[in-house]
Amino acid sequence: MMEVVAETKTKALTAFALENAPALIETVFPAQKVSFEAQSERKAVAAQTLTGLGSYWKGRKPLILVRAIVLGSLLPKTGDSEKDLEIFEKLMAFDDHGLARRAFVQNDLKPKHIASRISLSNPWDYFTLTGRDELSADDRLLNLECPFDAEEEGISLRWDRDTSDEAKLQLIERALGTFSTYEEKASFCKRPEEVDQTWLYAPVWPAVNDHYAQWGIKVESLPELVEQMGMLRFGRRPRVGDTFSGGGSIPFEAARTGCDAYASDLNPIACMLTWGAFNIVGKDSKARSEIEEEYRRVARTVQSAVDELSIEKDEKGNRAKAFLYCLETRCPESGWLVPMSPSWVISKNDNVIAKLVPNHNEKRFEIRIKNGATTKEMREASLGTVRGGELQYELDGKSYRISIRTLRGEYRTPEGSTGNRLRKWGKEDFIAKPDDVYQERLYAIHWILKGTENDGRPKTYFAAPTDADLERERHVHQIVEQNLPTWQKEGLVPNMAIEPGDKTDEPIRTRGWSHWHHLFNPRQLLLYAELMKHISPTLALRLCQVINTSARLTRWTVGDGPGRSGGTKQVFDNQALNVLFNYGCRASVYLLDSLYADVRGSVLPTHASFSQECVPASQISQDCDIFITDPPYADAINYHEITEFFIAWLRMNPPKPFDDWVWDSRRTLAIKGSDDDFRRGMVDAYRAMAEHMPENGMQCVMFTHQDTGVWADMVSIFWAAGLQVVAAWYIATETTSELKKGGYVQGTVILMLRKRPEGDRAGFKQSILPAVRAEVQRQIESMMHLNEEIKDKHGEPVFNDSDLQMAGYAAALKVLTAYTTIGGEDVTSFALRPRNKGEVTVVDEIVQQAAEAANSLLVPEGLGAETWARLSGIQRFYLRMMDMETTGASKLDNYQNFAKAFRVQDYARVMGDMKANAARLKRVTEFTSRELTDGTEIGPTWLGHLIIGLQQLLAEIEPQAVIQQFQQDMPDFMEVRPLLIDMLGLMERKAPEATVREAAEVLGARLKNLRALGQ
Ligand SMILES: C[S@@+](CC[C@H](N)C(=O)[O-])C[C@H]1O[C@@H](n2cnc3c(N)ncnc32)[C@H](O)[C@@H]1O
Repeated sequence: MMEVVAETKTKALTAFALENAPALIETVFPAQKVSFEAQSERKAVAAQTLTGLGSYWKGRKPLILVRAIVLGSLLPKTGDSEKDLEIFEKLMAFDDHGLARRAFVQNDLKPKHIASRISLSNPWDYFTLTGRDELSADDRLLNLECPFDAEEEGISLRWDRDTSDEAKLQLIERALGTFSTYEEKASFCKRPEEVDQTWLYAPVWPAVNDHYAQWGIKVESLPELVEQMGMLRFGRRPRVGDTFSGGGSIPFEAARTGCDAYASDLNPIACMLTWGAFNIVGKDSKARSEIEEEYRRVARTVQSAVDELSIEKDEKGNRAKAFLYCLETRCPESGWLVPMSPSWVISKNDNVIAKLVPNHNEKRFEIRIKNGATTKEMREASLGTVRGGELQYELDGKSYRISIRTLRGEYRTPEGSTGNRLRKWGKEDFIAKPDDVYQERLYAIHWILKGTENDGRPKTYFAAPTDADLERERHVHQIVEQNLPTWQKEGLVPNMAIEPGDKTDEPIRTRGWSHWHHLFNPRQLLLYAELMKHISPTLALRLCQVINTSARLTRWTVGDGPGRSGGTKQVFDNQALNVLFNYGCRASVYLLDSLYADVRGSVLPTHASFSQECVPASQISQDCDIFITDPPYADAINYHEITEFFIAWLRMNPPKPFDDWVWDSRRTLAIKGSDDDFRRGMVDAYRAMAEHMPENGMQCVMFTHQDTGVWADMVSIFWAAGLQVVAAWYIATETTSELKKGGYVQGTVILMLRKRPEGDRAGFKQSILPAVRAEVQRQIESMMHLNEEIKDKHGEPVFNDSDLQMAGYAAALKVLTAYTTIGGEDVTSFALRPRNKGEVTVVDEIVQQAAEAANSLLVPEGLGAETWARLSGIQRFYLRMMDMETTGASKLDNYQNFAKAFRVQDYARVMGDMKANAARLKRVTEFTSRELTDGTEIGPTWLGHLIIGLQQLLAEIEPQAVIQQFQQDMPDFMEVRPLLIDMLGLMERKAPEATVREAAEVLGARLKNLRALGQ
């Protein structure tokens, strides 16, 4: 072991003293609290620290989760898990003091709340009473003791001016202590990162230093702790790497906690976002205000360049805010030119609509803008002329309906695919040609009234374009026509063809757009070319943000919020390139708004070093002590395709230092899908990472929990890369986010890995399975034991069933991944071997075994283990979830995960509600008789019979008759009677409805009686 004596504060540390110590995250991790905090961060939406860099990047991992992983991987397991967890929670500001400080800053827990929740004999030492005139010295109120309800007393409370912050904090902490769950407490709090870190953590250092005193830890900040722990483990400040860095949240948070950071990604837009996290958000306020000044300067210059062209102001001096365009097509039936839009409502709040008025001479429709439309007119306008895949309109009393497919001229190609007769636009095109199926038409302008531009709320109105407006429109076209070739040559406007793909096929197929610049109209091209003249790395980030807010793909919203008259949304509302029939285009004032937006900041420690590469993960060149990655898998976002929307703009002249990167999405190198190529790409990536970390290095991989198939794939990959699983946790990241599809909720598994020790170990299924079962049991039992201890002391257990289940998987995989060959086959060839559909591999079997071993231990409270062992999946699921519901659990992903674990075929059939955060089982009384027939999953089970029996009792049928029915329906009735009694016992305690609990008691007593009578 090498002795390194570090300078100053780290003097007393022996480098590598913790070289082989297991990390805290291998044993304990407050996954529930991390889940709650991660969701709070997500819910902050645009206020998240890194979102402002590029809101089009949807998949950033929550920073709080990254912080928990970094700390959990560095802190050692000391032998006292309870204390380890306590210290860890302090460091995450999840403990009572931390929560009190976070609540103090949030200031939602007011004196009146505190006074109503705690006992306090001297409230007036802390609070001042208002709302009453002079009180006499003997007024009852002056002798009031807490708790009391200020409102009932007819008074208002505020903090007394002389109450110190310390005293306030103590009372807040006591008041928070009266809430039973962490969620309730934390809902009064700021997120940890929103609070000044020095102040937030001030009280924790004595306890931290004391807990780690044996290793010479002496710190007063998180970065110091991280540095010293790094010394003890790796002999240096730890370096955390992420080779799929995307939006940069992993390396950024690692640096914020004090690590050196390394980031790489294949995609230059991802690299640019990560660069922005470090070089914009992470900079001090002086550097940030210089960047802001740059943005303002560019905005002013572009604004005056556009103003000089006189293309956005009318003769009276009103200034355009937005232009609304729609498609128009010649109807093959009537021969008329018909404007196309799914709605002609322009602004809901101001009742503005576009009205189509026939012009028989020209066989086209005039578009008039009507302000103050009636409710009936609004309703009619909302129908639009594009409905259900058809062009629909009325003319002279006749209705026309033509499918969009017919308009496009769709046909089957000899190869069996679908083609159409839309003209493919050329590189020089930027508007439709007169004979094209789809024309584009300006139908409304959102104006800012002259003289109100600089008001807090400028006066705006909508109007149809006048001849003069159309003349200005033509002028814009002329400018673009004259300049486009030069702009493209100089790299000011994209000249890149759209490569077909999952997401990129859409604009090609449905509009004939063949080049990226076709996704922008002439006004947009002109404005962006102007902006591109000032390109710098910092501006490149803002440019992408800006072009995301105005393109032919930016939906016009009709202003749902109060006081809003409408606006353009972003292109990447979701992760697709959605083409539109009508859209909003921002004029320069509105567009440049986002250039003016403040640059959010969160200063990184000055010492933190950061290095970056734009390479495939398999080609990294940096060594890291810890890799934390969130790889692309299965159905994830098609980053490689959709980022081309931005790459197209920057690739010709990327500013320094971005010019070192390959400005191409390198689709072929991107890891995607879930097939054999995916696994090969992943194995190469993880092997490279394993080779770039020390023997005692750690890896954390995050992936979405879907089914055991994903587990098996992921594990084979890491196994083949020379890694061994050491722990797994489940983080519920359930929010109503864009990432969620069709009610399919997803959580994140964090899988902890270490290098597999050198040497060969041959394994065989027969010997592995018993070892797996034993390890799963050992792991779960030790966690349950810790749960008991902590629950006794703090009222809340640390681990819930999902944690235990995850730990079960991890334990099994730990056993499995220790081997180098399985049944004679080398693990690498096993992992890379092409899979046949439906093939069940050894890993699948072992994962399933692990799930079963874990589930057999997760007996609901109060149910006999023997009963549990005999229940089928659906029964286990129902009873287990009924038990869990009594603790207030209501997350759909919980139900989904357990349904998978218990191998339930269709859990939706026994669900009463499937809302993401308000899920619940179907109540006993809610099952219809059709849902309990023998043809259903639950109907023929013992539980199914019990549900029917309980329903009958509730329908006033005699218990005796119910039991007779049981005897008839269940041939093994006598034998299973104890089991039925046991299940009824559980329902008597856990069923949510009092009537069902009573019925269960009655039925249970009858069944017991039967035994007493010896029947
Ligand atoms: C799920 S995202 C990572 C998101 C990131 N953790 C964040 O917080 O924003 C996966 C990333 O992997 C990148 N990627 C795909 N294939 C790659 C490869 N072969 N090498 C390196 N990066 C790759 C994608 O560009 C994408 O940025």
